[in-house]
Amino acid sequence: MERYCVLIATFMLILHLVQAQNPTGLINVGCGLSTREPPYRAPGTGFTYTSDTGLVNSGETGKIAREFEANYSRPFLTLRYFPEGVRNCYSLNVSRGTKYLIKAKFVYGNYNDQNIGPDFDLYLGPNLWTTVTKNDSIQEIIHVTRSDSLQVCLVNTGNSIPFINVLELRPLPKSAYVAQSGSLKFLFRRYLSNSGRTIRYPDDIYDREWHALFLENTWAQVTTTLNVDVTNSDEVPQDVLAAGATPLNDTETLKINWDLEPPTSKFHFNMYFAELQTLKANETREFNVTLNGKIIYGPYSPVLLKTDPVLKREPFECADGACLLELVKTSKSTLPPLLNAIEAFTVMDFPQMETFEDDVIGIKKVQDAYVLNRTNWQGDPCVPKQFLWDGLGCKYSDISTPPLITSLDLSSSGLSGNISQALQNLMHLEVLVLSNNSLTGEIPAFLADMKSLMVIVLSDNNLSGSVPRSLIEKKGLMLHVNNNPHLSCTTGSCVNEGENVPRKKKSIIVPVVASIATIAVLIGALVLFLVLRKKKKASKVKGPQPSYMQASDARLSQPKNRRFTYSEVITMTNNFQRVLGKGGFGIVYHGFVNGTEQVAVKLLSHSSSQGYKEFKAEVELLLRVHHKNLVSLVGYCDEGDNLALIYEYMSNGDLKEHMSGKRNHFILNWGTRLKIVIESAQGLEYLHNGCKPPMVHRDVKPTNILLNEHFEAILADFGLSRSFPIDGDTHVSTVVAGTPGYLDPEYYRTNWLTEKSDVYSFGIVLLEMITNRPVIDQSREKPHIAEWVGLMLTKGDIKSIMDPSLNGDYHSGSVWKAVELAMSCLHPSSARRPTMSHVVIALNECLAAENSRGGASRDMDSKSSIDVSLTYGTEVTPMAR
Ligand SMILES: *[C@@H]1O[C@H](CO)[C@@H](O)[C@H](O)[C@H]1NC(C)=O
Ligand SMILES: *[C@@H]1O[C@H](CO)[C@@H](O)[C@H](O)[C@H]1NC(C)=O
Ligand SMILES: *[C@@H]1O[C@H](CO)[C@@H](O)[C@H](O)[C@H]1NC(C)=O
Ligand SMILES: *[C@@H]1O[C@H](CO)[C@@H](O)[C@H](O)[C@H]1NC(C)=O
Ligand SMILES: *[C@@H]1O[C@H](CO)[C@@H](O)[C@H](O)[C@H]1NC(C)=O
Ligand SMILES: *[C@@H]1O[C@H](CO)[C@@H](O)[C@H](O)[C@H]1NC(C)=O
Ligand SMILES: *[C@@H]1O[C@H](CO)[C@@H](O)[C@H](O)[C@H]1NC(C)=O
Ligand SMILES: *[C@@H]1O[C@H](CO)[C@@H](O)[C@H](O)[C@H]1NC(C)=O
Ligand SMILES: *[C@@H]1O[C@H](CO)[C@@H](O)[C@H](O)[C@H]1NC(C)=O
Ligand SMILES: *[C@@H]1O[C@H](CO)[C@@H](O)[C@H](O)[C@H]1NC(C)=O
Repeated sequence: MERYCVLIATFMLILHLVQAQNPTGLINVGCGLSTREPPYRAPGTGFTYTSDTGLVNSGETGKIAREFEANYSRPFLTLRYFPEGVRNCYSLNVSRGTKYLIKAKFVYGNYNDQNIGPDFDLYLGPNLWTTVTKNDSIQEIIHVTRSDSLQVCLVNTGNSIPFINVLELRPLPKSAYVAQSGSLKFLFRRYLSNSGRTIRYPDDIYDREWHALFLENTWAQVTTTLNVDVTNSDEVPQDVLAAGATPLNDTETLKINWDLEPPTSKFHFNMYFAELQTLKANETREFNVTLNGKIIYGPYSPVLLKTDPVLKREPFECADGACLLELVKTSKSTLPPLLNAIEAFTVMDFPQMETFEDDVIGIKKVQDAYVLNRTNWQGDPCVPKQFLWDGLGCKYSDISTPPLITSLDLSSSGLSGNISQALQNLMHLEVLVLSNNSLTGEIPAFLADMKSLMVIVLSDNNLSGSVPRSLIEKKGLMLHVNNNPHLSCTTGSCVNEGENVPRKKKSIIVPVVASIATIAVLIGALVLFLVLRKKKKASKVKGPQPSYMQASDARLSQPKNRRFTYSEVITMTNNFQRVLGKGGFGIVYHGFVNGTEQVAVKLLSHSSSQGYKEFKAEVELLLRVHHKNLVSLVGYCDEGDNLALIYEYMSNGDLKEHMSGKRNHFILNWGTRLKIVIESAQGLEYLHNGCKPPMVHRDVKPTNILLNEHFEAILADFGLSRSFPIDGDTHVSTVVAGTPGYLDPEYYRTNWLTEKSDVYSFGIVLLEMITNRPVIDQSREKPHIAEWVGLMLTKGDIKSIMDPSLNGDYHSGSVWKAVELAMSCLHPSSARRPTMSHVVIALNECLAAENSRGGASRDMDSKSSIDVSLTYGTEVTPMAR
């Protein structure tokens, strides 16, 4: 008994030593193997198969049925199957840029007692590798890895539950199996021998599996016991080359045929030849190789005891997928043709790039940090698009550019702990939604350093501390922090609009001009002021929330349920009967809600609505912004692929139509034009100053200024431009956010977006109201309107600037003030442009002047007294487009 135990112990020790002995880089995964049992060591190859636990997060383990057990060796007896989820993936650590021979093995073996053979897809990363349909198959591919991890994914296509038994990876040298492009999907690999033996590792150091092929009644076996020189043959084993076949009948050809699936597949193949017999002086072996009757190689004579691989790399096709390869003896040959081995591959182009690797690493870190257990968070996060991870939004440029992760929505995900540092790794993130969790701790300042991040929703958590100043000050950022009861403000930082900031500013500015003596007094006062204020703050925490939070809360008041189904959208628009217009993101239709309320339904086109999560985040924001000069969202539809925004209907169309006279036959008079621009300016002013944090419209132009039944101007399309693909991501210089002609040249140059970019665009709109001329007109002396007006002003040709159809019916002081204002809005330096608040005030003065005129009095004579200050330099280059 004791001896028996010692024996077992020794055995275990040997087993243990053996475990670590897989040659470096080789990966052998026994899917469904239990971690409780020791890893399995295959007798023939000596490979150790380890459990797949840790390589895949999902699936269940199974065993093939008893009656099949006798026919398969051990690693095939267990398997992992995936009853849940559409895509389930193995994630393997590999080295980037390495050529691997990848084998996936499937034995159905009625493991589920249902007798339904396999029918599911196999993906390599984001690309379809093959469809598994045989009860018993090996899928093999030679593929160069693009990152440090390789995803092998099984995809349920609705026909059967995916499963897998064995996964093997063998690194190959770069020089082996060079494909012109793409990866090489295995078709077959045979050596011509009647031994019936399969040759693989360790005879084949790459662990290719060479199956014997022999046609008993038509072929004659030729073998040698001598060594065959295998240099330059991609390490094809001796045993493979030491056998070959010739046709039994000397006058016949040597034939091999196979079928292609699908029949149109392109393939290429390698033939291995070595003369195994010493030929007599009067003997020759020479032959041609034909494929379906066409000579593709030859005349050729094998070299004695030396391999000579013939690699046919031009992609071949066979009519109807039926291939017949023949070795045809030439006339001078005395011996029949000889072939030793052959392998064939189909060329697979894997065009879809994987998601940007740092983003993948980043999202995995986030997943780890929050121990997120999501069934569809497997494989590539962004591609293929149909398997986009829940909660993510990605930016897709083209198939050969890695997609980027641009939005992350982990709302209502039960997150606890701090806002994780791991989020920093997602450097392309534009929208981050972490609302309705149990997050605690402070809001980290690193969020402000994430360059692309423009929307942060942290509401309904238990965050504490204060909102970092850098976040509050970040231009264009939208931050939502309401319903975090313990979140408070640091000195001054939260109060954007309150009385404290200006007062504090004053107390700092005053000492600069005061005498040294008064400075000491003032500093004392300032300290006292700050101390008192802090106290006040501290007591405030228990009381009502600080003004910043309140403002934000008010705006984030719970939206009504304004979500519509797609069928409601169809009913609403009477099956998309009346088209109102076509925008950058889709077509706009007319519709009715509740039978009477007219609406405009913007159906987002599939090509543009790629950022689904961004759409959602945007909807939530739009539902909460209210101002009389901003179009309000009535609701939205979010059903599968169908995304729609439903706005209030503006019965009088847009400003551009009115200016062009397309809509009505009357001309908008100067007073009406002023009223419209004032209202538009008020809408913009609200976006800039009434929203906290401020919003930048980014696409101010007459087509986005709508007119309601009372001819009131309503600004449309705000916000959307920021989160949709038109978005000028800082590193994408080809994508221009905004409309040519209206685009702020400084923003265009620096990618630095501020509210002043809207001021610039507004200045262009104002010039259009004054001149009623196209923004860009190549036939003009100066194509761009701003340059043209500038030129006219320097020439002193003031009258030609005005819209002639106004017939001089305006208060000239009013007009010239407007020209001056427009030009100041167009100052090349954004810092020197006025704010929208200033613009609203100035325009109201213009309107007052116009109204003071009364009737149709013309005071053209006063124009000489107006001193137009030119702030627009002619050195500014016009828009490139
Ligand atoms: C096992 O293999 C043998 C020989 O290849 C075959 O006859 C038999 O049907 C197989 N058994 C099962 C259960 O597939
Ligand atoms: C894969 O690599 C990562 C990082 O290097 C490591 O944390 C992980 O444990 C590795 N996984 C396996 C299965 O080796
Ligand atoms: C595969 O297995 C299924 C279920 O056991 C069986 O119905 C089918 O005939 C098998 N297919 C082949 C090609 O053996
Ligand atoms: C060899 O093939 C030729 C041509 O196909 C045929 O005429 C001849 O009978 C064959 N010989 C034998 C021994 O089968
Ligand atoms: C080749 O030479 C050998 C003698 O060396 C002879 O027996 C044989 O018949 C010859 N074969 C041919 C095809 O001439
Ligand atoms: C073999 O190929 C050569 C050159 O391609 C050709 O001239 C010759 O006729 C071919 N011989 C046979 C038997 O096909
Ligand atoms: C993940 O969730 C599933 C159910 O949704 C559960 O069965 C599984 O145990 C969870 N895994 C982890 C690691 O929590
Ligand atoms: C908040 O999250 C909980 C679960 O964590 C969920 O039940 C609830 O519906 C969520 N509330 C909202 C408003 O999304
Ligand atoms: C969470 O953040 C707080 C500061 O906000 C820090 O003191 C604490 O150590 C953090 N906890 C974890 C688990 O990171
Ligand atoms: C929220 O955090 C505070 C500490 O900052 C803690 O006292 C309180 O219990 C937390 N509330 C919840 C609901 O977790």
